[in-house]
Amino acid sequence: MFNLILFGPPGAGKGTQAKIIAQHFGFLHLSTGDLLRNEIEKKTELGILLKSYIDKGMLVPDQIVMKELYRYALQHKNAKGIIFDGFPRTLKQAESLDKVFCKKGMCISLVISIVVPEEELIKRILNRASDSNRTDDNFQIAKKRLEVYKSLTLPVIEYYKKTNRLVEVNGNRSVTEVSEDIKKAILSQINQINFIHG
Ligand code: AP5
Ligand code: MG
Repeated sequence: MFNLILFGPPGAGKGTQAKIIAQHFGFLHLSTGDLLRNEIEKKTELGILLKSYIDKGMLVPDQIVMKELYRYALQHKNAKGIIFDGFPRTLKQAESLDKVFCKKGMCISLVISIVVPEEELIKRILNRASDSNRTDDNFQIAKKRLEVYKSLTLPVIEYYKKTNRLVEVNGNRSVTEVSEDIKKAILSQINQINFIHG
């Protein structure tokens, strides 16, 4: 099983790329944002609570997200690979992911950080706002999401740098150019793993 993380700020193209890469390699695409929005749509008590965080551009508490994520991921233990989109977003989530998944033989092999300048991120989110149906796609909340990303999520990069699993990709190019680079990074990591393990 080859598990990877698509890491990056709001609007970087995590979801766009995850779909392309999942289809290309036959991996499962796991977006925590989508999982949480599905729960909101069901209008459950949990959904109402989740909405109160997402609509403010704040992170949903770690315990809630992790519970939802593991429930879903462990239902797909037989997948060829999982692409994590939007998770982890805090150091606690990153550490927990390694602990829980490695124990089950589902370690994270690669973290791809998609880098895009801030003005472009805001532009993309506002462009999407007209047809995304996302209550957090507006200027004020997009700014807040970026702030939260910089303070709570960006530091997680250091955690992955230390364990030599991080590859940076310039996300400020066409969708195809970005996905070609991501495919190359995945193939190179798969070759390296095969070389080490024979
Ligand atoms: P989430 O759903 O993860 O949203 P996000 O991180 O803010 O990112 P987006 O989905 O907005 O952007 P993306 O990087 O997927 O880009 P996309 O491909 O769509 O999270 C939402 C909320 O849920 C959070 O704020 C939080 O409250 C909660 N949450 C989720 N996970 C959590 C967690 N782990 N812990 C706690 N809380 C959590 O692209 C954006 C736009 O740009 C699209 O219109 C696309 O068509 C366009 N585009 C993409 N690539 C390109 C390109 N190369 N050139 C031009 N346009 C492009
Ligand atoms: Mg997304």
